[in-house]
Amino acid sequence: MAEMIRKSSVVEVINHWILAGSCMLLMLSGFAFLFHLEPVGAIFGGFESMKNIHNYLGVVFLLSLALSMVHYLKDAFEYDGDDVRWFMVAGGYLSHKVKVPPMGKYNPGQKLYYLAVLGAGIAIGISGFGMWLMKDNAQVMLLSHFIHNIAFVIFALAAPVHIYLGTLANPGTFQIMVNGMMPLADAKKKHPKWIKAIGKM
Ligand code: HEM
Repeated sequence: MAEMIRKSSVVEVINHWILAGSCMLLMLSGFAFLFHLEPVGAIFGGFESMKNIHNYLGVVFLLSLALSMVHYLKDAFEYDGDDVRWFMVAGGYLSHKVKVPPMGKYNPGQKLYYLAVLGAGIAIGISGFGMWLMKDNAQVMLLSHFIHNIAFVIFALAAPVHIYLGTLANPGTFQIMVNGMMPLADAKKKHPKWIKAIGKM
């Protein structure tokens, strides 16, 4: 059996499921509101109850997003020359011939993805509360709808890429989402700076 190393704590794994699950259900119900998709509304017990579920799922999503800051925010703000070089070779995704620079725990694509999720998440949350609680204020409603829709587009574009990279594009990565573990040998290849920093090299 290959020696394994813990990349995500149990709390990180559980919180990622809550973040991902609430986000996907919010996107599904939001999409159904936008295009008035009756069959999707029916799954949630009709449009009226889908509205309530959507609002409270938003609260769950925001709590999970707040906890995620403990897990990813510090890493997401740390960049060095290797991160710039990683972008110059497109992370090695476009060619096997390029040399991918050594990475820490997360590559810069993942770090920027997190900042996009955080920024768009805060925007979609605040505008959501605006629409939920300030229905009588036409200006707040207009601005909130606008911001909510822009942030939705960011999620709709970024999430499928993230899911593809976390599954099909990088076989083995999905295990991190399931139990937080990855093979030590893979971690030494993909995240040498992280492995060195924790003294396992
Ligand atoms: C259900 C589909 C999803 C799958 C299969 C998936 C997969 C993964 C995997 C495998 C990781 C660990 C990567 C690593 O440590 O190298 C991860 C991390 C992460 N996921 Fe997801 N994820 C999904 C949905 C989401 C959604 C919807 C969000 C945002 C709301 C999200 C946000 C994050 C963040 C912020 C991280 C940490 C930074 C990163 O690795 O990009 N995930 N995901």
